[in-house]
Amino acid sequence: MDKSGREHAQALDFEDPLKDIREQFIIPTKTDLLGKQAIDASKEDSSRPCIYFCGNSLGLQPQRTAQRVKEHLEAWATKGVTGHFVQYGPNLPPFLHVDDVAAQKMAPIVGALPSEVALMETLTANIHLMLASFYRPTEDRYRIMIEGKAFPSDHYAVESHLKHHGQRPEKAMVLIEPKDPDSAILDTTHIFNMIDAYAATTALILLPGVQYYTGQYLGIQAITAYAHSRGILIGWDLAHAVGNVDLHLHDWDVDFALWCNYKYLNSGPGSIAGLFVHENHGHVNLETASCGEDGYRPRLSGWWGADRSTRFQMGNKFVPIPGAAGFQLGNPSALALTTVLASLEVFSLTSMTAIRRKSIALTGYLADLLLQSRNHQSPDNVYSIITPLDAAQRGAQLSVKLKPGLLDKVLKVLEEEAIVVDERKPDVIRIAPAPLYNTFAEVWDFVQVFEAACRDAHAGTVQGTDSAALAGQDAKGWNTIK
Ligand SMILES: Cc1ncc(COP(=O)(O)O)c(C=O)c1O
Repeated sequence: MDKSGREHAQALDFEDPLKDIREQFIIPTKTDLLGKQAIDASKEDSSRPCIYFCGNSLGLQPQRTAQRVKEHLEAWATKGVTGHFVQYGPNLPPFLHVDDVAAQKMAPIVGALPSEVALMETLTANIHLMLASFYRPTEDRYRIMIEGKAFPSDHYAVESHLKHHGQRPEKAMVLIEPKDPDSAILDTTHIFNMIDAYAATTALILLPGVQYYTGQYLGIQAITAYAHSRGILIGWDLAHAVGNVDLHLHDWDVDFALWCNYKYLNSGPGSIAGLFVHENHGHVNLETASCGEDGYRPRLSGWWGADRSTRFQMGNKFVPIPGAAGFQLGNPSALALTTVLASLEVFSLTSMTAIRRKSIALTGYLADLLLQSRNHQSPDNVYSIITPLDAAQRGAQLSVKLKPGLLDKVLKVLEEEAIVVDERKPDVIRIAPAPLYNTFAEVWDFVQVFEAACRDAHAGTVQGTDSAALAGQDAKGWNTIK
């Protein structure tokens, strides 16, 4: 079979062991996205699903989420406060235990012990909570090391903690920039060298598991071990890694990690976030006081992190729950956690190993098609892939840098064709096929439209171009994608 044709993509879908999981999701149609007026009913099927390659930003809604939310609302309506103590149907734990159950179900996704995971707050709030606990500057070790192009929240959070401790960020914040100014990739050896250069004065490192802009998957295990060998604690922002790559946070000895659940975890915009604290840091030992002056790691605390057996005694002596749960602040929204649980039900249909296996194949297929294309090979550099080409160094996302001036024209065509990707101005498109709901045929269809759009934008002819023609003659069957 011709490996460059759509039939090959369809054959890959046929063989895909995860193919049925797509049915677990609501895929918006072209009409959903663009409205009826944008559809030419004589030409195309308005119920055609869009091609959604934006799970790195906001994952799609699982079919079962609405039902679970409805069940939760029924539980609240019919049980009132007693809903805290009774299981409502087979899927909804008592409100009081919903955080605990969600943490248990999340643990295998991040490779953690259940006691090392808490579902709470937002990602940014959890960065602050972890910095409050893990950044304990001394006269000698006061620096925090992050990447120069860190997500703004991470940068702001680190900067604010430095100031909070009376440090000057210009001195105390070490920014790791790519060694090669023409590449946005952070080379591991370069990170090691930076750690060495600042080892004596650095208290903490915060890095991304998968970098949001480039899609680079950093060597979490190796970098963690290196930081520890220099006596430095290290935390990971896993916003773009969780549910995307298979993680082994406990075995990798990661000190702490945080993530949001609305990207590859499909729990809805702004849903409750996640936190990992290695069991080494979660001990509570009031007898020996060996884990800090109070017998546990210092933290910002609230009643929901306090020992469950005394939680309702309303005393004033804070004794934390051992593990990540002891970092919780207040009573979490059971409604919000219901959407996380619904998504975790879908993850329980497979494993992170199987998800990652498909992801490597799916994004590898996308990379292969783009690398073979004329636009990529053209001496004009119509676009280049800035994500590492080595599958071990990337997750689902490929970031493609367009020649200056092309981005808006290309995005317009993609939007008209109901292809959802996201952009990072001035000229990067992030394309993330999610292994739970995307197909090889969608990758193939995307590439046809993308290639034609780049070619036409480059030639300055995108205005008025017929979108069917843009898809090219190979794109037959486009309207029948399921
Ligand atoms: C890498 C990274 N860090 C932090 C955040 C901030 O997350 P939140 O707004 O949920 O706190 C995001 C959001 O997309 C992110 O991608």
